[in-house]
Amino acid sequence: MQAVEIVYSLLAGRSRKPGTAHEVYAPANIALVKYWGKRDEAINLPVTGSLSVSMADRGTYATVEPAEAFSLWIDGVEQDVATKASKRMAAYLGLFGGPFRLSTRTTIPIGAGLASSASAFAAVVRALDALYGWDLDVVSQSILARLGSGSACRSVLNGFVEWRLGERADGMDSHALPIDVRWPSFRLGLIAVSEAAKPIGSREAMRHTRETAGLYAAWPDVVARDLPEMRAAIAARDLTQLGEVAEGNAMAMHATMIAARPSVCYWLEESLTTLRRVWALRADGLAVYATMDAGPNVKLLFDVRDEAAIRSAFPAVQVVNPFGA
Ligand code: PMV
Repeated sequence: MQAVEIVYSLLAGRSRKPGTAHEVYAPANIALVKYWGKRDEAINLPVTGSLSVSMADRGTYATVEPAEAFSLWIDGVEQDVATKASKRMAAYLGLFGGPFRLSTRTTIPIGAGLASSASAFAAVVRALDALYGWDLDVVSQSILARLGSGSACRSVLNGFVEWRLGERADGMDSHALPIDVRWPSFRLGLIAVSEAAKPIGSREAMRHTRETAGLYAAWPDVVARDLPEMRAAIAARDLTQLGEVAEGNAMAMHATMIAARPSVCYWLEESLTTLRRVWALRADGLAVYATMDAGPNVKLLFDVRDEAAIRSAFPAVQVVNPFGA
């Protein structure tokens, strides 16, 4: 199945005439049970389900307007259209006709390693929706965002979100759904280890891990065990359970890629120093857990009651309240 066929079928009968452009927003998200591996690379169908929490006011604003030629503006600065990231976005927008001028600005303070593509693709879907007046439901938005970047399918919703694996070859049942639990004292802490570009993108790293890491065979079983435990932890607002499952799941994901040949290791020295600090604090009784994605940055999971202790242990931490206003 090709991405363009999915777009056609989801947009069948909807307007092809652009109206007025609007700036729209989508939050970034952090996976608590990770997506690692595609069963269909063309339309980003995952090997397993995954579960995330959206970052409320940390994300991407986007405006899409019809234009003579594709251009990409980030924080008011025109970008080189020849970079890999620009070409990828141009190709994605091409699925919807165009050409377009895309302007984005981000409220994620610590740069590229932080789920910025997820919020960007979700915001672009919403910007197209606003431009054409499609009024797409969340499921359609999620499927369209998934075509840009798998994890983007979770960025069309706030709070806790599950990406259902689905079983259909056309991916129409592989999309995000909300988890109806508010947890106002739950906090994320963002620790910026490096803003340098990643040595290898998630798409290639997933493929390489699947193809060369014997350990990857165990990954679907890890997720099959972790997903129900994570749902239960969220339902019970049990930080210990949530933290243990999220941290263990992230370590297992990194273990699969470290075991690839050659190894893919996104960790820098400071990532490991930060992880060790988290483990030492926990040994001293502080309820703080860590997760990491396809990059060196570390994200902390904790409760607001421990915010002062977290800030004193990690002075540079950016604290996010996923259920804040
Ligand atoms: O959506 P992608 O291709 O950027 O992949 C994201 C993969 C992880 O961030 C490592 C895990 C996840 O579920 O977000």
